[in-house]
Amino acid sequence: MKIFCGLCGYSGHELFTHVRNVHNLTPELYRERCPVAPLASEELIRYLHDNNVQATPAGIKKQVTLFGMQIMTDLTPDPAVPAGNESYLLRQDIGRLAAAAVKDSESLLLVGPTGVGKSTLVEQIAARLNWPVVRVAASGGLTEADLLGEWTVRDGETVFNYGFLPRAMKQGAICLIDEIDGLEPSVAFSLHQLMEENGRLVLLQNGAEIIEPHPGFRLVCTANTLGHGDDSGLYTGTRVLNAAFLDRFNSVIEMGHLDEKSEEKVIRAGVPGFKKKTARKLIETASAVRKARENDQVFCTLSTRRLIDIARKTVQLGTLTEALDAALLARLAPEDRAVTREIFQRHMGDILQKEREEHAHETKK
Ligand SMILES: Nc1ncnc2c1ncn2[C@@H]1O[C@H](COP(=O)(O)OP(=O)(O)OP(=O)(O)O)[C@@H](O)[C@H]1O
Ligand SMILES: [Mg+2]
Repeated sequence: MKIFCGLCGYSGHELFTHVRNVHNLTPELYRERCPVAPLASEELIRYLHDNNVQATPAGIKKQVTLFGMQIMTDLTPDPAVPAGNESYLLRQDIGRLAAAAVKDSESLLLVGPTGVGKSTLVEQIAARLNWPVVRVAASGGLTEADLLGEWTVRDGETVFNYGFLPRAMKQGAICLIDEIDGLEPSVAFSLHQLMEENGRLVLLQNGAEIIEPHPGFRLVCTANTLGHGDDSGLYTGTRVLNAAFLDRFNSVIEMGHLDEKSEEKVIRAGVPGFKKKTARKLIETASAVRKARENDQVFCTLSTRRLIDIARKTVQLGTLTEALDAALLARLAPEDRAVTREIFQRHMGDILQKEREEHAHETKK
């Protein structure tokens, strides 16, 4: 039997999400207003009990084991929880460090080259822990108003429109700020106080309103450069992060490319129909391009994201030759394109040659 919301009569098996999303109330505040109204149906409570899950006024909680750590999570359904991706390979090394930071309420900075899986790692950990995520990109002119909020007129009334940070803080979400090395320094300053021990946010814009973080709130940022600016030439628009800002992160994790075996697994799981032998050679070629990058022979890099796109295009178009052009070479500077093409020729020349012969045969017909 379903239960009814004491405020509006909505019926369902659990009201945690409903009171939060519809009435903007915590379960505790709802209890104050409707002291006898249950928050979960008897059926749901029985189900939760049978599955070792606790239903409390603060939410439906369960201990989830991730990387050998017991992490208490809130199972209340929330549309802001990222969708789980079964083909995503949760990296044991980095994943354990990141999950530990999330578990212990630490602010976390993930640093690494583009496309190695920084943002998706956070999302996939959140998906496994049923943790909502508010995600935003810091580069491209993110303003203080976007971050903290601003006064606007709604239906003829002047109201304060909270920015994504106070919203994540109230909701108990992971606030994932991508490309933090692209954030305006003046905007980064707004985060300083929050990142201190027992930090909170003072919204001067809204009459110095104090926002205390919900226990589920976490701050996670990603960046391509270690905050010392961009010396590779790859990441234009990045800034030197203020030392005081960098120092406030409890954890900084450097994330490199996946090892060859794992990357092959990721590509084959993510792109059904992509041949095992081709995948292996593609990974081998990627390692050679990355080595060329380290030796300053090219300025481009080859991310897992690019490799997945090359694999997808190969399956879609039927030839590696076309896939390479569409998913990689066309976006490179002429000098990088020539060197990269040559590396591909060296490692995957047999496949490319076979395709050329087949093409010549087809056009002859
Ligand atoms: N471990 C992995 N398992 C499965 N897919 C992965 C993995 N790592 C990366 N990918 C793939 O690579 C793509 C890029 O990952 P993501 O966007 O997280 O990279 P990023 O490091 O945040 O890049 P950027 O610095 O450009 O923001 C993802 O869409 C995903 O398809
Ligand atoms: Mg990212």
